[in-house]
Amino acid sequence: MEIKGIFDSHAHYEDRRFDEDRDNLLRGMKESGVDYIVNVGSSIDTTKKTILLTEQYDFIYGSAGVHPEECKDMKDDDLLFLEEVCKHNKIVAVGEIGLDYYWDEPARDIQKKWFRKQLELAVKVNLPVIIHTRDAIEDTMNILKEYTPLMSQGIHGVIHCFSGSAQSAAEFVKMGYYIGIGGVVTFKNAKKLKEVAQEIPIENIVIETDCPYMAPEPYRGKRNDSSYLSYVVSKLAKIKGISEQEVTEITAENALRMYRMNK
Ligand code: NI
Repeated sequence: MEIKGIFDSHAHYEDRRFDEDRDNLLRGMKESGVDYIVNVGSSIDTTKKTILLTEQYDFIYGSAGVHPEECKDMKDDDLLFLEEVCKHNKIVAVGEIGLDYYWDEPARDIQKKWFRKQLELAVKVNLPVIIHTRDAIEDTMNILKEYTPLMSQGIHGVIHCFSGSAQSAAEFVKMGYYIGIGGVVTFKNAKKLKEVAQEIPIENIVIETDCPYMAPEPYRGKRNDSSYLSYVVSKLAKIKGISEQEVTEITAENALRMYRMNK
């Protein structure tokens, strides 16, 4: 498969900040050089909205999962629902799931419980995972070490919006995960992430917006969208000393491989 454009491996276009101009914006994506988008579920509600987006736009794929910040009221029935959603032919991952210790709520035990249950789901339905981890690298890594051996061979998923050290990034790569890099890499004060981008081979990196959040410079603080990934591509090209087209193509091939869309 020949790839020319950008693959945004993580977006939230169901967000109400896109209500005003969603259709126009998405219809212009191909022209902005964006070929594929994976819209990521972060709750039962946003997973439902993700399915609708994948049905409406041929270049949008989706994932099903409940974010650690949204897992407080999760029930076993929700897992059954997610399992059904995973049978949908454009749902390519379980996520975003993980641990977030930035806030005190939900309690860590509750987060871990639903992280584990959704990893079990990923093993059962045989899909890669999209991992959210904030201030919780060690616990995330330990739990992933329990479940990764149960997953099928190959790439198991992505550590999205990576915020850890280059050393921990290398360890996740060794376990079979890609590192998700977005707008933060363009920030002046993002020393740690630039080190990660330097140390981790481009063959193990996927790019992402996490839009509407995390807009790159010069749009920092504004609403983000996939067309702004060109700034992330340009930054990575400088860091890696390769062309922007190489960054675009290699990271798109990585995402296609990770989401098993290249079959
Ligand atoms: Ni996200």
